[in-house]
Amino acid sequence: MSQRNSISQRYLRPRWPFLTQNAQGTLLIDNISVQSLAEKFGTPLYVLVEREIRERLRRFKQAFSYKKLRPQYAAKCNSNLEILKIVREEGFELDASSIGEIILGMLADFTPDQITFTNLYKSEQDILFATKIGVYALTVDSIEELRRCVKVGEQLKQQVRVFLRMNPGITFGKYTTKKQQYGIPWTVAKKAINEALNSPYISLVGLHFHGAYVTDPKIYCIAAEKLLKFASYAYQRGAPLESLDLGGGFPVEYKDKQEFTPEDVSKILLPKLEKLYKEYGLPELNLIFEPGKFIVNTAGIGLVKVVSKKYLGQKKKVVTDGSTYAMLPDPMIYHCYYDILPATKMNQPRIRTFDICGCTCDCIDIIGANRNLPRLKENDLLAIMDCGAYSNVMASNFNTLRRPPMVMIKESGEIKLIRRRDRYSEMFAPELDVLKIADPYELKKFYDLFRINIGSYWNPEQKEAVVKKAG
Ligand SMILES: Cc1ncc(COP(=O)(O)O)c(C=O)c1O
Repeated sequence: MSQRNSISQRYLRPRWPFLTQNAQGTLLIDNISVQSLAEKFGTPLYVLVEREIRERLRRFKQAFSYKKLRPQYAAKCNSNLEILKIVREEGFELDASSIGEIILGMLADFTPDQITFTNLYKSEQDILFATKIGVYALTVDSIEELRRCVKVGEQLKQQVRVFLRMNPGITFGKYTTKKQQYGIPWTVAKKAINEALNSPYISLVGLHFHGAYVTDPKIYCIAAEKLLKFASYAYQRGAPLESLDLGGGFPVEYKDKQEFTPEDVSKILLPKLEKLYKEYGLPELNLIFEPGKFIVNTAGIGLVKVVSKKYLGQKKKVVTDGSTYAMLPDPMIYHCYYDILPATKMNQPRIRTFDICGCTCDCIDIIGANRNLPRLKENDLLAIMDCGAYSNVMASNFNTLRRPPMVMIKESGEIKLIRRRDRYSEMFAPELDVLKIADPYELKKFYDLFRINIGSYWNPEQKEAVVKKAG
């Protein structure tokens, strides 16, 4: 067996303890060579490391030693069923932002009362479904939504359990919630509380705040103070409050920086909460957080293959079989930076500066610009780091590309396929379904084409079978 070393110093970041490399300079992810992964599953490919996800979940819980901590994982950042199962096993509940995510949660064996439904819009149908199955609470984002909940409660002759999601109007340095569209503005918060308390169909069990791109741990303290003030107002008027939900927004390590950690938040927030409960005459509430990217981001690696190289005067471009659109949309949306490692040339000197491009017909499809890397050629593999969160869930089928499969390296060493590559047939289905109704003959034409011609040329072995069968 080839020798395994810590990865070359020039690429090393402490947040990737699962990376090593062999004597040939091939990257190993939790002891599995990227070459073997690419051979078995093809590229582009997402690779997730179970060990890292579990460690992050445990670390988050340990950071907050609070008796009534009820952490939830934000399913939106990576809703893969295998990840949801791990999250549940580690004692997290679920923050679901749609009926789809509630269903995924139940497929991962969360009980409905372990799921909170938090988003900006719920139709009456959504409210009815979530209430009937018995989610822990619906986080109401506006007065209009509160009224929809009242209407559904009346219809069901049942109380709808709600959190009111607040925008408490926080400004801290350059950070402000005054530009965010989330939650009920502080100016009408008491009006919303009064409406909730005045309806026999609403049970106001919690207050919620999600700060999005939080820049300082003090923001959680400011939010807690503002929310508990409203909580005290509600509690004095009879609200059966159970929970304070301070959302997600915990930053991930980025380049070589970490803005702050869950431990930093805990250190200042927990003593503050104790003080505030006393000051406002409140009972100790469940403390809910909804971390997403902090849990899974570093555990995800994108593997892509170099398909061509283009020297354009000073500019050198490498085209890969990956794509920002189908795999990692962040660079286009936030101009986000991904570390890119030369996964099959880890021990070679970095002598070139490349733009690493995706393969769609769009010149903004650049996964990473101006990267110092070894001399690269066709079939070399590149590892795009820290792409466990907001990658495949945000990716599209632009250019009618199939989104990549996802494998997980389990703690046992097993390599488990946890999502297969998209299929053309499912990409076309929304239009074929319409054809089925409008013109069944058109549909037959498609199936003939797809099954016999395309299928046989795509996969020559299948062609033999088809020819034999037809003959
Ligand atoms: C309500 C809510 N909770 C939690 C999260 C997760 O945020 P993060 O991944 O930044 O922790 C989000 C993200 O958008 C959110 O909208």
